[in-house]
Amino acid sequence: MERAELYSFSIILIFAFASTLLPSSTANIAVYDEYWQKRAAEAWNRTLDTYEPIPAKVVSHLNLHTSRALKEIKNGSNGTRRQLAHGYQGPCTATNPIDRCWRCDPNWSNNRFRLADCVLGFGHKAKGGKNGKIYVVSDSSDNDMVNPKPGTLRHAVIQKEPLWIIFDRSMVIRLNQELIMTSDKTIDARGASIHIAHGAGITIQFVRNVIIHGLKIHNIVPGSGGLIRDSVDHYGFRSRSDGDGISIFGSQDIWIDHVSMKQCSDGLIDVIYGSTGITISNGHFTDHNEVMLFGASDAHSQDKNMQITVAFNHFGKRLVQRMPRCRWGYIHVVNNDYTHWNMYAIGGSMNPTIISQGNRYIAPPDNGYAKEVTKREYSPESVWASWTWRSQGDIFLRGAFFVESGDVNYMSKHPQLYDLIEPASAQTVAEITKFSGALGCKVGKPC
Ligand SMILES: *[C@@H]1O[C@H](CO)[C@@H](O)[C@H](O)[C@H]1NC(C)=O
Ligand SMILES: *[C@@H]1O[C@H](CO)[C@@H](O)[C@H](O)[C@H]1NC(C)=O
Ligand SMILES: *[C@@H]1O[C@H](CO)[C@@H](O)[C@H](O)[C@H]1NC(C)=O
Ligand SMILES: *[C@@H]1O[C@H](CO)[C@@H](O)[C@H](O)[C@H]1NC(C)=O
Repeated sequence: MERAELYSFSIILIFAFASTLLPSSTANIAVYDEYWQKRAAEAWNRTLDTYEPIPAKVVSHLNLHTSRALKEIKNGSNGTRRQLAHGYQGPCTATNPIDRCWRCDPNWSNNRFRLADCVLGFGHKAKGGKNGKIYVVSDSSDNDMVNPKPGTLRHAVIQKEPLWIIFDRSMVIRLNQELIMTSDKTIDARGASIHIAHGAGITIQFVRNVIIHGLKIHNIVPGSGGLIRDSVDHYGFRSRSDGDGISIFGSQDIWIDHVSMKQCSDGLIDVIYGSTGITISNGHFTDHNEVMLFGASDAHSQDKNMQITVAFNHFGKRLVQRMPRCRWGYIHVVNNDYTHWNMYAIGGSMNPTIISQGNRYIAPPDNGYAKEVTKREYSPESVWASWTWRSQGDIFLRGAFFVESGDVNYMSKHPQLYDLIEPASAQTVAEITKFSGALGCKVGKPC
């Protein structure tokens, strides 16, 4: 069922399938063949498995580690106990618990898998290609969509086995079509300056266990679609891709860390269609209108299982809205620095739970209509008044304000959803996010 001749037959299949499982999206999969149906069904099972019934455990675990890291820094100690166990005693300037877990090791380039032990938040199970082979990308081209050339990023990401993908030098990769990843992969740009730019974006669809670290993703445009290989054993027709920087679709255990992203023709990061177990950390986002979309449709109630951590990011210059814009799920937004937005920072509809902790929100100076951090869409107050949107320990500058909703006693009534471990202080957020975006790691030196 992977041949072009079946295209028209498969259109019928798409509609049959769309009406049951894909209410308003064809997922760019033009031929929804048995292969993709199986991947979708397996993915849905994994979403149900990955869903954390006691999200407070994940939320407070992160908060505890952040407070601990800040205490160490304040106390002038040089690194976490874990690093000391690695034998390193030098000064560690990493300013949050994820970074302190690996950045101070001057030998990081020989210990790349270490990164996989550092993720916190809902993506905490993401191991990427840990303990797999190292795959070195040495060719920046992307010319053959069906039989990608060995040495290219596209060849790396379709392989079956776990792979830790690195780059032999700095390069700009212009993707001819969306880059369709398989499970158990890490794309690790440390040690090189890697731009994914001026072409299509990255698609993480019906897969699990992916880490993306240190990429510079910008000026992404829609791919025209066509025949694209999505794994060693399969290729098929794809429709036009949207032009998102990273699209996470029906996937689990995903960690996006230290990316620099701007100017994509659709969103920078979309997390949709029953994806869960996601952490987006240490990112630097600029120059964009619709930054992050979590949940694409009111009809995708499977996004009730969506649990996402947005931590230690810098939402910077010339951003407009959606940092993020949420439907259905449970979103922990913690210790981020919001220094620029033109409409609003955090929005949503369809009763998402939004726990905002220890963020710094700086409203735009010249726009009196954009002081509110929050925005509810398509719902009157009588409806949104019951949505749980809580702000704890956030700081608000230049007149910024967060309109809370839901039960004011939510925390004490639902300890399994939200417990009393406080976030690290928003006063330290500039410090915590100081190294956001792609890092310039040098071999042999702390990063
Ligand atoms: C999904 O889980 C159900 C119930 O555990 C099982 O019967 C079914 O075979 C699973 N489907 C796939 C595709 O793994
Ligand atoms: C601060 O550092 C000193 C010396 O490194 C250590 O003995 C002490 O326990 C630390 N205090 C805290 C609160 O971590
Ligand atoms: C931190 O490391 C520096 C340089 O290695 C050392 O001089 C200093 O004493 C260390 N500080 C602590 C508190 O261990
Ligand atoms: C760097 O790490 C590798 C792999 O863990 C180890 O074999 C090597 O001895 C380390 N080098 C130094 C200088 O610590």
